[in-house]
Amino acid sequence: MEVKPYENSSKDKRTQVEDMFDNIAPKYDFLNHSLTFGIDKLWRKKAIKSASETSPKTILDIAAGTGDFSILEAEKTSAKITAIDISQNMLDIAIKKAEKKGLTDRIKFLKADSLNMPFDNDSFEAVTVGFGVRNFVDIPKGLKEIFRVLKPEGRLVVLELSEPPNKIVKAGYSFYFHKVLPFWGKLISKDGAAYKYLPKSVDNFPYGERFLKLMQDAGFKNTKLEWLSLGLSAIYTGEK
Ligand SMILES: C[S@@+](CC[C@H](N)C(=O)[O-])C[C@H]1O[C@@H](n2cnc3c(N)ncnc32)[C@H](O)[C@@H]1O
Repeated sequence: MEVKPYENSSKDKRTQVEDMFDNIAPKYDFLNHSLTFGIDKLWRKKAIKSASETSPKTILDIAAGTGDFSILEAEKTSAKITAIDISQNMLDIAIKKAEKKGLTDRIKFLKADSLNMPFDNDSFEAVTVGFGVRNFVDIPKGLKEIFRVLKPEGRLVVLELSEPPNKIVKAGYSFYFHKVLPFWGKLISKDGAAYKYLPKSVDNFPYGERFLKLMQDAGFKNTKLEWLSLGLSAIYTGEK
């Protein structure tokens, strides 16, 4: 497979992404779980298992959104979690969920951009990104920034959607993602643009070997890729 470099340089994409998630925040959880038929929960558990293998005492969860990943990390590990996102509305929902579960002393939520994080070098023993990396305006820059804040030997775990390689699965996925999902997403969230953006963001994401190459270019070693559910999503891991 040819490894093509990823290119993306839209100037105001970050603000568009922030506004979009601010807008869909109240309906995000419902749509997320219904559109994936709940399978996203299994994928998250698997990704967190990989992040917890090295028993990190500190985890940075990037693009935390409404907090499902960060909350599961707090429940499944004994680490102190720092969760960041650019959308305050998504974070507000995450904070309420953490309060309900009595986890506010374990998770610190912060509005911050993954491309320019307010943390010192070598701050965290593990970093996770669940369904967030494809929204970064500049993925190579985001990976370099993650590398910077990870401690030496620390592990990065990325969970992200991808296009399945099998032609039949891909045809079904394409119909679902490009027709059913935008219709259902618009109906529930009243934000047609957001749910048109979702399939496009997956189409444009440099999944598979291309993403591993970007991780290696950012400095990560021992990079690995694990396909999930016939390639509908994947877990990428790498170490500093
Ligand atoms: C699809 S949601 C995923 C949320 C959560 N991790 C989950 O598993 O449900 C993507 C999130 O990425 C956030 N995001 C996008 N670009 C970001 C960036 N540059 N820095 C931090 N968060 C970002 C969005 O605001 C949004 O909340």
